[in-house]
Amino acid sequence: MAFSQLTLPEHWLYPFIELVNERTGIRIREQDYNEFARKIGQRMAKLRIPRPEDYYAYLTGLGEQSCQEWQELTIMLTNVESYFFRDHGQFQLLEQVLLPRLIAAKRRERQLRIWSAGCSTGEEPYSLAILLRQLLAHEQGWEYEVLGTDLNPVVLERAREGYYPQWSLRSLSPIIQQQYFQPCGEGFQLDARIRKMVRFESFNLAKPMDRQIAIAQIDLIVCRNVFIYFSPDAITAALVTFQQALAPHGYLMTGHAELYGQDLTAFQSHLFPESVIYQQRDRHLAHSPAPLPLPAISEPRLRPMTPVVLPVATPPTTPPPSLADLLTEAEFCLQQKNYQRSRQKIEAVLAQDRRNFAAHLLKAQLEANAGEYQAAIATCQQALKIEPLSIAIYYLMAQIAEEQGDNEGAKQLFKKIIYLEPTAILAYYELSQLYDQEGNPSRGQKMRQTALALLQQLPPQSRVDQRLNLTVGDLIEQIDPANLLSE
Ligand SMILES: C[S@@+](CC[C@H](N)C(=O)[O-])C[C@H]1O[C@@H](n2cnc3c(N)ncnc32)[C@H](O)[C@@H]1O
Repeated sequence: MAFSQLTLPEHWLYPFIELVNERTGIRIREQDYNEFARKIGQRMAKLRIPRPEDYYAYLTGLGEQSCQEWQELTIMLTNVESYFFRDHGQFQLLEQVLLPRLIAAKRRERQLRIWSAGCSTGEEPYSLAILLRQLLAHEQGWEYEVLGTDLNPVVLERAREGYYPQWSLRSLSPIIQQQYFQPCGEGFQLDARIRKMVRFESFNLAKPMDRQIAIAQIDLIVCRNVFIYFSPDAITAALVTFQQALAPHGYLMTGHAELYGQDLTAFQSHLFPESVIYQQRDRHLAHSPAPLPLPAISEPRLRPMTPVVLPVATPPTTPPPSLADLLTEAEFCLQQKNYQRSRQKIEAVLAQDRRNFAAHLLKAQLEANAGEYQAAIATCQQALKIEPLSIAIYYLMAQIAEEQGDNEGAKQLFKKIIYLEPTAILAYYELSQLYDQEGNPSRGQKMRQTALALLQQLPPQSRVDQRLNLTVGDLIEQIDPANLLSE
C-alpha cells in the first residue's frame, strides 16, 4: 500500500483513542472516529511507519522523538480557535465584578496572579492583561502576573510573538484596538507593555502528576473552551489541579456548561447572569475574608454593557440547586430532544429570574425546535428587551423566518446581524443562498465571496461558529471555491 493511502484498521482505533485520551485528556467523539483514523494514518504515512503497532510503540516510547511526535499529533487533534475578549458577558463580569473584588481584597499585598489555562495563541491571557491594566491604571505599586499555559508548544510560540490577524480582533472595541495594537503587515502587533505582563508556559491539564511548572496561589483561573474536548475523567483531573492552584479566595471561570455532570462538591458555585463562577468550598469557608463590598457598577470602560445583577445569595453549607445547574440541565435535555423536561427547567429558572437572558434564548430555541414558531418569536422579542444586540437571537429569528418561507424577513435579519458583527460569516453565507433562491446570483456570489474571504483568514480546523459543528474547511468546501474562481 502506498504511504499516502495509509488508514488505520478498525481494531486499532480504540487503542489510539484511549492513548490520546490518557495523554491529552481529549475525548474523540464517535462522529469524529473516521477523521481521527484518517489523521493517525496521515501521521503514519508522514513518518513512513506502515504498521499501527509500530506507530503506537513510537508514541509510547520514552525518547525525544516520542515527545516530538506528540506535539505533531496534538496540533492535528486540537482546536486552537480563540479571539480577544471572547464572550462579552464573561469579560463584563470580569471587568465589573470579579477583578474589582480581587483588587479590593488584595489592596494591602498589591499582588495579583491570573492563570489562563488552555490559552491557545494568547488572546485570552492578553485580554485579561488589558483588563488589569485598565483597571489599575490609576493605582501605584501593583505587581501582577498573568500566566498563559497550553499543551501545544506551537500556539505558545505564536502567543509570545503577539502578532494577530484582524480576525482575532473582531470583538475588540476600536478604542482598545487603537490603544494596544499597531497595524503591522497584514495584521496587528500587540503593544509590548501588554506582552510583558503575560508569561507563557507549557502545561498539560490532563497530566497534573507529571513534572510540570508549579502553579499556586492563583487569584483567578480562566479555563474556557478546553473542557468541551475533554473526557469526564480528564476534567476531574484538571479540577484537582485548579483546586490546588487556587488561592483560598480565588475564582475559577470555565466556558458555559463545561462542568456539566462533574462532581463539584469541592467547589462552591456563584451564579451571575453572565456566567457561573467557582470558588473552593472548604478552604473558602475556612479562610473566607469578610464579605467584600460589592463594587458599584460604573459606566462601561471597554464597551457598552448591561448592568450586572448580583449573585443569588446561597447558604454556604447546603447550596440549593443553582439556576446555572437548571440551565445546564435544560440545555442538555434540549440537545436530547427531551422538550418537556427542558421546558420545566427553563420555567423553573424564569420563575426565579424573570429577566434571565440565557433562559429566554433556550426557551426560544426549544419552541423553534418544537415548531412553535409564534411562541418562539414572542420569546425572542422578550429576550431582545434584555439584550437588544444579541446576535444569537437574530440568528434564531432568521432561521424561523426561513422555516416559515419568509425569505425577505430572513434577509433583513441576516443583514442586521452583519451590521452588528461585520465578520458574521454564516450570515453572509445564508444571504448568498437566499439571493440565489430569489434569482439574484450575482448578489449571491458577492456574499459567498465575502464569506470565503473571511473563512480564508481562519485555520481550516476551527469551528465557524461555536454553536455549530461545522469547520472552516467544511464550509469552504460547501461554498466551492473552484466554482467561485471560474465566475
Ligand atoms: C479552543 S482553544 C481555547 C482557547 C481559549 N481558552 C479561548 O477560549 O479562546 C483550546 C485550547 O486547549 C488546549 N488544550 C487541549 N488539551 C489540553 C491539555 N490537555 N492541556 C492544556 N491545554 C490543552 C488546545 O491546545 C487549545 O489551544
